[in-house]
Amino acid sequence: MTWDPGQYLRFDDLRARPAIDLINRIPEVEPSEVWDVGCGTGAITYSLSRRWPAAAVHGLDSSPEMLDSAREHTGIDWVLGAIEDWTPEAPVDVLFSNAALHWVDSHATLFPYLFDQVAPRGVFAVQMPRNHQEPSHRVLYDLARSERWVDQVGDLVVETPVSAPSDYHEMLDTEADGLDVWESIYQQTLRGPDAVSQWTKGSVMRPYLEALDSAADDFFAEYVADLRPHYPQQANGTTLFSFRRLFIVAHRR
Ligand SMILES: C[S@@+](CC[C@H](N)C(=O)[O-])C[C@H]1O[C@@H](n2cnc3c(N)ncnc32)[C@H](O)[C@@H]1O
Repeated sequence: MTWDPGQYLRFDDLRARPAIDLINRIPEVEPSEVWDVGCGTGAITYSLSRRWPAAAVHGLDSSPEMLDSAREHTGIDWVLGAIEDWTPEAPVDVLFSNAALHWVDSHATLFPYLFDQVAPRGVFAVQMPRNHQEPSHRVLYDLARSERWVDQVGDLVVETPVSAPSDYHEMLDTEADGLDVWESIYQQTLRGPDAVSQWTKGSVMRPYLEALDSAADDFFAEYVADLRPHYPQQANGTTLFSFRRLFIVAHRR
């Protein structure tokens, strides 16, 4: 799947906020090896390298476009590859992932595997969007399954890419010495017309738009029209976009 760093970064402040909240929940540690998996454009990886300047910091991503953008940050080891195929050469002291693991399947095996890569007394810190019950996502799923589009993109719908918080507790608890799982709902204020559609165009819609190729504009136009009543633009030009996110900070025994 190709990513469009420019579209993704249209809301960079709001997208960065949960990552910063997650970094701030990581306790005082002195890591040697830090990995950011699904690092995207690398801005958050760069924040990790500033927090731990003495550490070797690595950013892994499967998108060449995102990594090209990331390379503007020097002093970080950028690695092209898939999270599900990744094995670090050395145990990881901080394994970090912001807004990426919901793109990877099979969390019941993935999460214990990733936690296994963390060194004793290391930290596994994850944030994933959990907004799939909201109109931003439901309208997309309904449209993809509508008569006009089902044959082309109906099978791309992933109803619940992220499980319930208690499931992650269960996956990690036995190997953890301290496990903090929580959700936050950000009441985001977006600017510009059809702002929620512009937000999703840079994230959850990517696989659909790519699969549709020349029909992508028609699909997007239908989505915008269907979504508009759910997120009315205020007289001052802003739109309120409530967004639920799941956080995990797990300390390895
Ligand atoms: C929404 S972006 C988040 C990027 C970055 N973590 C941030 O917070 O700005 C999701 C990133 O995950 C990457 N990604 C998705 N699935 C992946 C996989 N299986 N392996 C590696 N990277 C993946 C995408 O290429 C994309 O750059």
